[in-house]
Amino acid sequence: MLAATVVAMTAACSGPKEEAQKVLVVYYSQLGHTKAVADEIAARTGADIEEIAMVNPYDTSFGATIERCMQDREEGVLPEIQPFAANVADYDVVFIGFPVWFGTYAPPVTKWLEGVDLGGKKVVPFCTFGSGGLESSVADLRKCQPNADILDGYGVRAARMDAMPKEVEQYLIDAGFVDGEHSVAEPWGEQHEVSADEAAVFDAAVDGYPMLNAKAKAVAVRTVVDGTEYLFTAVNMPREDRPDQAPAEIQVFVIVADGQAPVFTRVVR
Ligand SMILES: Cc1cc2nc3c(=O)[nH]c(=O)nc-3n(C[C@H](O)[C@H](O)[C@H](O)COP(=O)(O)O)c2cc1C
Repeated sequence: MLAATVVAMTAACSGPKEEAQKVLVVYYSQLGHTKAVADEIAARTGADIEEIAMVNPYDTSFGATIERCMQDREEGVLPEIQPFAANVADYDVVFIGFPVWFGTYAPPVTKWLEGVDLGGKKVVPFCTFGSGGLESSVADLRKCQPNADILDGYGVRAARMDAMPKEVEQYLIDAGFVDGEHSVAEPWGEQHEVSADEAAVFDAAVDGYPMLNAKAKAVAVRTVVDGTEYLFTAVNMPREDRPDQAPAEIQVFVIVADGQAPVFTRVVR
């Protein structure tokens, strides 16, 4: 496979620094969301791309997938994956994409990571999820590949794929992989007790998401390019179907784009 060459632009006081890097996008995707992000990254960077393909793919049903994962976990096995065509050693930068499963990267990615050394490489994690899990996945990745330079990465809810192309473009600019105007985040305001209006924003954002049963306690607010972003501290109560769960404090990021309904962008547990 031909190695792609990407010109990385790194913002510096003295002006942009250019440096040729070979970039590979590796991903696993069961239902296509992570594949869409991988395709977007590869298209925008000109990187080579390779899928982690399973020997015996999961059933596409959620229940059957959970069951198989549980059984594999009990037996202490990981799923077999197809041989990989790209020689990872040829690349300087490896984007690694996955759906978050059980708060971390899905098992085919664990399997792939077992057989590869990313030491000395820049590694850019990206993921899709129902509610969140980028931070916990990246923490696991750093433990698994301690000699790699692992960035904080990009994650998006499967329910927000329409926002993904623009977010990926901005992420790639901010991380120095493509040229463009860097974003500057406003600082968060003070965390304060939620008002009735803020509680209504929170409730509207999480309404209908079955995995959360949360009430907002405190919030910080900031202005973003086309609206307002909220960082809620909330308590997630046991769901009706999981009375054994203990109440847990979570952080929930919510965006209210001008003229639009509130949506949560990620949950940090
Ligand atoms: C077995 C399984 C476990 C999952 N665990 C989580 C999870 O812990 N947290 C989460 O936010 N989403 C979870 N999800 C939702 C997936 O991360 C989400 O649907 C993802 O976007 C699927 O990506 P794909 O279309 O590339 O396969 C899980 C899905 C499955 C099938």
